[in-house]
Amino acid sequence: MQRLAPALREDNVPLDLISLIKTVLAATKEISFRVGQGHLSGLMGSTLDENIQGEVQKELDVVANELFKDILLESGFVKAISSEEEDTSVAGNPDGKYIVSFDPLDGSSNIEINSLIGTIFSIHPAIDGMDASDPDMFKQAGNKQICAGYVLYGPSTMLVMTTGKGTHFYVLDRTYGGYLLVERNVQISEDTQEFSVNMSNQRFWESPMQDYINDLLLGTEGPRGKNFNMRWCAAMVGDVHRVLTRGGLFTYPADSKDLAKPNKLRLMYEANPMSFLVEQAGGLSVTSTQRIMDIEPTDIHQRVEVILGSKNEVNKCLSYYK
Ligand code: F6P
Ligand code: MN
Repeated sequence: MQRLAPALREDNVPLDLISLIKTVLAATKEISFRVGQGHLSGLMGSTLDENIQGEVQKELDVVANELFKDILLESGFVKAISSEEEDTSVAGNPDGKYIVSFDPLDGSSNIEINSLIGTIFSIHPAIDGMDASDPDMFKQAGNKQICAGYVLYGPSTMLVMTTGKGTHFYVLDRTYGGYLLVERNVQISEDTQEFSVNMSNQRFWESPMQDYINDLLLGTEGPRGKNFNMRWCAAMVGDVHRVLTRGGLFTYPADSKDLAKPNKLRLMYEANPMSFLVEQAGGLSVTSTQRIMDIEPTDIHQRVEVILGSKNEVNKCLSYYK
């Protein structure tokens, strides 16, 4: 099996970007180790703090964030970082060529139940002439990403990454200490009979989404004429990984549960990187009105509606909004 750096060189990834990716991955190996320790890590509890999104931070969230932040800022490759767990962006090397947005531990409600969690990251070019401490540097659309990926801390630790030349799967080989390529150019099937949504929010969705999901639930007796299966990991990394592996439609639609917060998922470090991976694997990733990667960000923590996965199914879902 091919090691990571030669695989990236095959895709003509520049050497300094390879070095940055290796830096990101060094942090994920450390997190993978601590996640694998479970209760023995002593990091399973909650802190008394909330992040800027109003979510209670778990100790592991905080440790993962600190690991990422320190390793990236010390590397010299990055001009700034932005994280789910940081109120605003943090300046790094003024001459760094890249900026990195990340969700250090996605799906953290799964920590205490020993279930899927992961790290999501997105790399954009730094903007020349802009101050390293200016958060506006992160207001770049997803279509400007030069690399995106996630690491899934499951029974095996997997890296799924794209640099714009297809989406590839890697597995962390603990005996060798690095990621090995296991599948190049993953393709999402165009059709599917599986969907993924938090059904408990159904009554709060807009009517097109309610109608679409109702038709899936009617199965062979409804307009779709086939039965659909449903899965929900409560960790975007887990659900997107299933979609990349065997197809499906994943959505976190807008809802009216909390009018101050109509959307849940974050654009910069959840929706954009996942959209890049999904599109590079032949899938679609949209809101009910536009391609996610074409959204011009207005805030580093902004939230967005997400509908992604198998191309024909995403288009079918969108047809309910027309
Ligand atoms: O980071 C937000 C997140 O945890 C995603 O990973 C996941 O898809 C979603 O929220 C889970 O939402 P809910 O709590 O509604 O199941
Ligand atoms: Mn998350």
